[in-house]
Amino acid sequence: MKSDFNKATAISDGQEASKSGYKVPFGTVSITSKAKKLIDEAIERRWLTKGKYVREFEEKFAELFGVKYGIAVSSGTDADAIACAVLYDFGAQRGDEIIVPALTFVATGNAVLQAGFTPVFVDVERETLNIDPKKIEKAITPKTRAIMPVHLMGKPAAMDEILSIAQKHKLYVIEDAAEAHGAQYKGKKIGAIGDMACFSLYAAHIVTTIEGGMLITNNEKMAEAARSLRNHGIDGKFQFKRIGFSAKMNEIEAAVGLGNIEIFHDILEKRRANVRHLIKAFARFDQYFWCLKEEAHEVLGPHAFSIVLKPGVNFTKDEFVTYLEKQGVDSRNLFYSIPTQTQSYQFMNHKLGDFPQSEYCSDHGTHIGCHQDVGVVQMDYVVKVVEDFLKSKG
Ligand SMILES: Cc1ncc(COP(=O)(O)O)c(C=O)c1O
Repeated sequence: MKSDFNKATAISDGQEASKSGYKVPFGTVSITSKAKKLIDEAIERRWLTKGKYVREFEEKFAELFGVKYGIAVSSGTDADAIACAVLYDFGAQRGDEIIVPALTFVATGNAVLQAGFTPVFVDVERETLNIDPKKIEKAITPKTRAIMPVHLMGKPAAMDEILSIAQKHKLYVIEDAAEAHGAQYKGKKIGAIGDMACFSLYAAHIVTTIEGGMLITNNEKMAEAARSLRNHGIDGKFQFKRIGFSAKMNEIEAAVGLGNIEIFHDILEKRRANVRHLIKAFARFDQYFWCLKEEAHEVLGPHAFSIVLKPGVNFTKDEFVTYLEKQGVDSRNLFYSIPTQTQSYQFMNHKLGDFPQSEYCSDHGTHIGCHQDVGVVQMDYVVKVVEDFLKSKG
């Protein structure tokens, strides 16, 4: 599909990128001329809350990901929380458990709690940064209702193993695909593998509505429950059947999303080219770092490029990221082990050391941007900065 992507984002040489003050900024938003036109029309119509653009966006998003239903919401966190709450229509009780990876953005754990469930954390694999399927079964109890894998950095979690555990124990699978738009696992689209999948449409992601989220599913009853839950649990005209959320998407956000869907493949290819360039170039630093990898069974839907310091290197993560920052390369910490490194989760009484791989990745890991407003020139710049840093360390 051809589009006004190049015009919309000035992608090729980082003109937009430089506006952030960083030479290699972390995130970007592509607002196309189609989106601008739709926004103007919505303002003219004076109908700005959920309406025809939201419906059209839901249909197109579901089509793009090869599923039947899309339910647009206010954020990825709301999509996660609503997906959990849908399970009350399927036999779950408040206080039941949902298994999540320990290393992910805090929103995954928060959403489970917001929906009235208890998150049960499982450590990740250091190489993939995703939930370690070998450790899931030990975490299952009679109260477990679902497994919620996260495809961190746009790298698919081990879905075959996860689905087979879920089947064996009669659990639902909710994919947190917030960071994995366009990723594929063994030829299947991420988001179309579990019972439900949740996307963040926040500015840093491939399809963005600036702020927003999307829940997708092939299950009609789940879709119906999710639609009700995003609107206070409504059922019929002003009747309320479920304890719901106030999480509707508005027309302006949907207009931005419709514009983004038109350039989805362009953005995806640009991000893939950037990340593949980095993967190849970082191979020369193999003795220092574990980095994001793409394996034969998968295609990445790149969110960002992760870099984890290997044991025994003669520098700290802080020294490394401070150097990157000074050279104009923006970065983010590689999240935290939610149960043991996030203050708000102290109430769960886990102790440092309970999730060693997640804690290691957090202590030694960072991630940098590879989005559509940067290109090979910026990626080469990052490589040069890293090379200079390593030289300075002898
Ligand atoms: C893995 C993961 N889950 C959930 C979310 C929450 O999304 P949002 O910020 O749109 O609420 C994010 C945010 O990017 C995320 O990275």
